[in-house]
Amino acid sequence: MPSLGSGRALARPPMTHPVVEVAGAGPARASSAWMPAMATPPPSDAPSGTGAASTGRAVASAGNANPGSTGHNTPAARVQLALRDATPRPGQATPRPGEAISPEGEAALTVLYDGACPLCQREIAWYRELPASCPVAWLDVNDAQALSVDDATRSRYLSRFHVRRANGETLSGAAAFVALWLTLPGWRWLGRVGRLPWVTPLLELMYRGFLPLRPRLQRVAHALATPHIPAALVADLRSDHAGETGAVYIYRGVLALARDPGLRAFATHHLATEQRHLDQVAAVLPAWRRSWCLPAWRVAGFLTGALPALFGPRAVYATVHAVETFVDRHYQQQIDRLDGLAHTASPRPGAGTGEGADRWADLRALLVACQQDERQHRDEALALQAGPVGVFTRAWCALVGTGSAAAVHLARRL
Ligand SMILES: [Fe+2]
Ligand SMILES: [Fe+2]
Repeated sequence: MPSLGSGRALARPPMTHPVVEVAGAGPARASSAWMPAMATPPPSDAPSGTGAASTGRAVASAGNANPGSTGHNTPAARVQLALRDATPRPGQATPRPGEAISPEGEAALTVLYDGACPLCQREIAWYRELPASCPVAWLDVNDAQALSVDDATRSRYLSRFHVRRANGETLSGAAAFVALWLTLPGWRWLGRVGRLPWVTPLLELMYRGFLPLRPRLQRVAHALATPHIPAALVADLRSDHAGETGAVYIYRGVLALARDPGLRAFATHHLATEQRHLDQVAAVLPAWRRSWCLPAWRVAGFLTGALPALFGPRAVYATVHAVETFVDRHYQQQIDRLDGLAHTASPRPGAGTGEGADRWADLRALLVACQQDERQHRDEALALQAGPVGVFTRAWCALVGTGSAAAVHLARRL
């Protein structure tokens, strides 16, 4: 869990349950099964319930108070009832007085992360790729324009991972991660496990154990940083490197078996282009950020070229057309994503909107140049294919397209 704060605020006990400030509940504190003595945070720590006038304060562990089992006269039950009455309607955002969070909008969950931390950058970029089950706002705590808070509050947000729900609940540490995971496909199972009563405290202990190590890990990550690549495109470039590796081996596979002079000339020419692509992408993407599965991509590429070569030139051209059709779309998606980053978000904390357009101009030019070559390969293969191919070849090409998508999916992650 890299996005975990710098450990500067360890003196303050972690908020492992939703901490909600409610109106009229008095100075009560609900008990927690594993952390009964939760310290009351400073006034700026907890969100302001529904915005109703506060005549008193209560900091409640909303997860454990149970009026049915403890009776309505216990402090926990009173707080729980107050929480129930004070809970805002779904989607109702309740920013704290004096605190403006511009990207929050109607978000059901606002993630407060340290955008200057290379660990957090990578983790958040990974999460942001996923289609969350509810609107999620991603807020860089360093961005003074987006998050207007005092220095102490900002420092506290930087010290631990926080999320805030639309109803004003603020979670931190393990509880915050669990809340975020529950919204993300592929991570919900971890969220479900993480919210089990005995698991959340365990995760919190791990989290607190990690915090002292975080500064050292940040230094390592800074040393290995690749500021010339937007964090959101690292996985794409990893898939590009894997794909260009596979492309080189496609033509090596063709040349290993093909005897047709025209096909061999085609493969030789394309092999040189794909090798150039591979070298260019490798120059951008450091070795430690490349796919761990390069041997597998080489084998897959070789087979993708060699197998159709057994059946003749038209099968190879149809295969190349199928591959390059996919690759064209894959590069276009990256170009669109890069353009979107340049125009809708600051590339780094404090950077002006649009700065990314200049900062990543070289990367965009590389993607466009590769895409143009791939389109030429696609069109050339289609022309040489000279008409429709048979059912078997069409089925093979469908398999190649599906396999390419699966390979990209894996290469983005491995
Ligand atoms: Fe290529
Ligand atoms: Fe190509």
